[in-house]
Amino acid sequence: MTDPKVKKYSEELKKLGIEHEILKHPQLVSVEAVQKYLGYGLEDAGATLVIKVDDKFIAIIRRGDTKLDNERVKKYLGVANLRMANEEEFTKLTGVPSGAASVYIPSLPTYIDKKIFEKEYINAGSGSLLYTFRYKTSDLKKIPGIKVVDFTSIESEKKSSLIDIKGKRILSGITPSGDGTLHIGNYLGAVKQFIEFAKNGDCYLMVADLHALTTIQNKAQLQKNTETLILNELALLGNLTNIVFFRQSDVPMHAELTWILNNVTPLGLLRRAHAYKDKLSKDVMEDEINLGLFNYPILMASDILLYKPDFVPVGRDQKQHIEICRDIAGRLNKTYKSDVLKLPKPYIPEDVAVVMGTDGKRKMSKSLGNIISIFDDEIVIKKQVMSTYTDPTRIHSNDLGHIEGNMVFAYLDFFGEKNKVSELKDLYKEGKVADVEVKNYLFESLMKTFKDARVRYQELKNNPQKVTKILSNGADRAREVAGKTMMEVRDAIGLTNNYSFFKY
Ligand code: TYM
Repeated sequence: MTDPKVKKYSEELKKLGIEHEILKHPQLVSVEAVQKYLGYGLEDAGATLVIKVDDKFIAIIRRGDTKLDNERVKKYLGVANLRMANEEEFTKLTGVPSGAASVYIPSLPTYIDKKIFEKEYINAGSGSLLYTFRYKTSDLKKIPGIKVVDFTSIESEKKSSLIDIKGKRILSGITPSGDGTLHIGNYLGAVKQFIEFAKNGDCYLMVADLHALTTIQNKAQLQKNTETLILNELALLGNLTNIVFFRQSDVPMHAELTWILNNVTPLGLLRRAHAYKDKLSKDVMEDEINLGLFNYPILMASDILLYKPDFVPVGRDQKQHIEICRDIAGRLNKTYKSDVLKLPKPYIPEDVAVVMGTDGKRKMSKSLGNIISIFDDEIVIKKQVMSTYTDPTRIHSNDLGHIEGNMVFAYLDFFGEKNKVSELKDLYKEGKVADVEVKNYLFESLMKTFKDARVRYQELKNNPQKVTKILSNGADRAREVAGKTMMEVRDAIGLTNNYSFFKY
């Protein structure tokens, strides 16, 4: 690490006995952008607010997904006025740029909200926009003079899980990247919501093979990945009939609309896209990044807008793309004074917005090698389960165990039987059950959850005619809807067949 200020801060923390890990990232200002880059959600972040109460300043540390209740702060501190420090005051008081405040600021009386302690670790400021520290929350109580308070309420995305999905149109897509197989992060973050919707709604699901071209430029690999993903998805979907399942490249309108949207999209909007920024931060020269990768959010906007869905169920990593899609659609509508494009909403239930990987540190992702597969051989999945991060403080099975941050229990909350999981949690906390027993139960639960899908996968693999027919039906239905939207778009922007030969 090169930043001497950050190094000094880290040493001060060590002196106070505050355990922390130093995470480096590109220069990012918002808590959301940093968390996204690091593969965490807002609920795993701590944000330092500098606040002016009457005539003095204080610092409040709140969790990223919570909202400060001003009235509670005023009541607790016995003050009448309260406002956020402005940028100048902030920098003067903390000595660092806005967005970089650390957790320990000796010059400011500091209050820490109790919801921080619901997490075992939290990512928060370090004094630099290039580093985030992952603090052990229980150690934060060692900050001199710190007071634990109850100042916040949860600002949740839960409202989206309460939406009435009856009769709504849903669209989503998955890219056949990596080797094309699905993991439980894809399942919990996107496919499961999709299946729920499909029981009542009108659903479109695409295998986004055009998106894969941004990274896969090998004919055999692209074909293999696409086929694998098709079989994985169809096996999970089962016999749902409300789904139009298709391959993106079978519907040429996606590329056509992309060209039209290119012309209303400013460069700056794409420069802010995470996928592009991530690529840049990996020491790739801007001149060498292919235009497909740069344009990717526009293709994804076309994927969505062609079908006019109400909701797009995705994991949080795709949220920005849906915001970009809304932005682009709004720009086209405004440019042509039309409402031809319908602005979609993301659908991201909070509890599965980011499924963490088996390392317990980063978002589950094939490229990080921290996944649990769905369709691999049992022996592979067992190995993935057995290497899942649990409680590093627990050396013997009779040591008291921790559930928070323990990935085996995090997965069991989704896949295990409720009563059994709650019983295992109690036993684990009391040091009465070994890690391996809990892991065996997770493995059994996964096998049970995906039993039918795994059987269907083998059946589909042996029945290519059936799969080809599903895809050709899906492509026909998708082309019909996409074609209709394209006619409307062409009409709205002046690419019509309705010639008037200069009688304007
Ligand atoms: P992709 O293929 O990377 O991921 C597919 C879906 O899985 C979700 N996901 C996760 N959710 C929670 N936790 C995780 N660890 C996790 N890993 C993956 C993703 O958020 C996504 O919903 N660009 C898209 C595909 C796409 C698309 C679209 C999506 C193309 N066109 C139109 C919606 C609408 C992508 O690459 O997702």
